[in-house]
Amino acid sequence: MSHSAYQLPDLDRPFARTNVQTVAQRVELLRELLPDARAIGELCCGDCWVQWAAYRRELTVERYHGLDLHPGVVAANRAAGIDCDLGDVLDPAALRPFLGDDVLFYGPPLSVNCDGHTLLPFRAVTPGYADLVMLLFGQLGYDGTLVCIAPRTTTPGDMRWLYDTATDANPGVGLRLIHHSYATLTGAGERHEPRLKYVELWLSTRLPDLWELREGQP
Ligand SMILES: C[S@@+](CC[C@H](N)C(=O)[O-])C[C@H]1O[C@@H](n2cnc3c(N)ncnc32)[C@H](O)[C@@H]1O
Repeated sequence: MSHSAYQLPDLDRPFARTNVQTVAQRVELLRELLPDARAIGELCCGDCWVQWAAYRRELTVERYHGLDLHPGVVAANRAAGIDCDLGDVLDPAALRPFLGDDVLFYGPPLSVNCDGHTLLPFRAVTPGYADLVMLLFGQLGYDGTLVCIAPRTTTPGDMRWLYDTATDANPGVGLRLIHHSYATLTGAGERHEPRLKYVELWLSTRLPDLWELREGQP
């Protein structure tokens, strides 16, 4: 099977990881919006050690598990003790073990080869947000919250397009929150002025359809 349409990291070079500051913002939002969440899945998880440690330390999460297409990424997560499946996020069989989770974070590659240098616009990201949303909320009937971690260049038009796709797939889906995540650290821990890292779109069948706009500061 060829994965040439997807961006996979070169494990011999530095690759994009979520930094501790944006993970801390996710912890605060989970505490506020989904205090009863017990199971969290991470789709296109990459190196998810920071999230795994934070959710276990800060929240009452009983299950955390990841899914990634890169065998080396999966092996490294498993070696760190993280429950991690190997598979393609657009394969319904790979997604089934995640359907019972309260929250799914979806963090696809936002740059070419996941190197953080050549950033992709929202609609060029693969696996595509719209494809995942149709599969998850439509075909697979997921009932929960999907947090799409999107590029900082994501526009209101992109958001509207994804929202329309999600509500076409399941009219019960709402966009609870548009969260602009700022950080003063790179994934490798170097300091810089506050920068917008991601736009997170909190789509949910469980939370109200508010389109609330917030900025998260480190
Ligand atoms: C940017 S990294 C993960 C970042 C992580 N979600 C985070 O927030 O820290 C993207 C990951 O997506 C994985 N990936 C790319 N295409 C995929 C696919 N079709 N299915 C599953 N994982 C995929 C890559 O192997 C890479 O590890």
